Amino acid sequence: MRTQVGIIGAGPAGLLLSHLLHLRGISSVVLERRSRAYVERRVRAGVLEQGTVDTLVEAGVGARLLREGLPHQGIELRYDGQSHRVAFEKLVPGRSITVYGQQEVVKDLIAARLEAGGDVRFEIEDVAAHSLEAEPYLTFGGERLDCDVIAGCDGFHGVSRPSIPPGVLQVFEREYPFAWLGILARVAPSSEELIYARTERGFALHSMRSPTVSRFYLQVPPDAGVDEWPDERIWAELKARLETVPGFTLETGEIFEKGVTPMRAFVAEPMQYGRLYLAGDAAHIVPPTGAKGLNLAVADVRVLTEALDRFFATGSADLLDSYSESCLKRVWRAQHFSWWMTTLLHTFDSDDAYGRRLQLSYLDYVTSSEAAATTLAENYVGLP
Ligand code: FAD
Ligand code: PHB
Repeated sequence: MRTQVGIIGAGPAGLLLSHLLHLRGISSVVLERRSRAYVERRVRAGVLEQGTVDTLVEAGVGARLLREGLPHQGIELRYDGQSHRVAFEKLVPGRSITVYGQQEVVKDLIAARLEAGGDVRFEIEDVAAHSLEAEPYLTFGGERLDCDVIAGCDGFHGVSRPSIPPGVLQVFEREYPFAWLGILARVAPSSEELIYARTERGFALHSMRSPTVSRFYLQVPPDAGVDEWPDERIWAELKARLETVPGFTLETGEIFEKGVTPMRAFVAEPMQYGRLYLAGDAAHIVPPTGAKGLNLAVADVRVLTEALDRFFATGSADLLDSYSESCLKRVWRAQHFSWWMTTLLHTFDSDDAYGRRLQLSYLDYVTSSEAAATTLAENYVGLP
């Protein structure tokens, strides 16, 4: 069996890459370890930058996103008994974000691939990448797939990054001393905009998925399990962290999804070796506070598509050679922004009174200086 691009992983990165390549007349096969139902149900991100929305719309997979996605012109920062709005329409005119669940993006991409006759294979368990320096190929279940190029889009725990020989990659990482407990609840959002709340009890985030479904996150200890968080405890803690300003009441409802996500940052450089190119979480992870992970995956895939198009159309590998360098500038900007948002809003060492004062001072600055608020806004909506 032969294809031009062998893609490992049917997350947003792998599916979008396969679709964009198809639009340029380049063939690919996507190999995914999980079932279709599993990847379509996996609840994760929700904030799409303008550039991500534009990419999906231009690729012809944005119809439902434009219909059902919730456009947002600002976010709220809540701390110390005060509410402050970061107004995108004023600070970064013409740029905004759209709230639309990552699993909806995945559903739309799978539907588009299958409708176009794309080759996406689920429940493929033993994918391995070989001969990365020249004439690469993938093996799985006794089959062999020869390709010109392999795209490692298999997330942080995938097989593509570890298939690069030892000593090639330089790894940068940081573990945070906390995790996020995320839930979905059948209840109308209690606020029109996302609320990022810093309290002495820890961070909380009020997000949403639709007019009838709300999404919440709580900062929890790094080893927390969902069993320790019965529904009543979650609502009590969300109320304690969000009902901190006059007139705000948190509406509650049935919780139908719960999960704990560790908070870590990670970058592997370079994002390529021989004929293997890493994209998305396979190459880098950010803590979710800045809502950047999915958006970075889409940005990588945009760069990789241009490079592959040039390679297959002209035989020139110049854009492929500079792929990693082209992506890493954006990756590191997002790393810094995500670290900054995380540091600003979470509780670290509860004894560190000095650290708390610094956080509050910075929050006062961000909410009173237009220059500081613009920095937050332009990073949040995403660099062009
Ligand atoms: P993945 O989505 O991880 O996809 C990788 C795929 O590869 C998976 O389907 C996996 O099953 C498959 N795979 C793995 N190993 C193999 C193998 N050996 N063989 C074959 N297939 C394999 N980002 C944002 O931009 N905004 C947000 O608001 C946001 N919020 C988040 C909230 C949470 C709680 C979490 C956990 C993440 C959040 N993110 C957010 C990050 C975002 O979800 C990820 O960055 C995004 O999923 C990356 O896409 P990907 O395609 O690179 O990787
Ligand atoms: C989400 O809605 O899932 C979400 C929103 C903002 C974030 C992270 C996740 O920073």
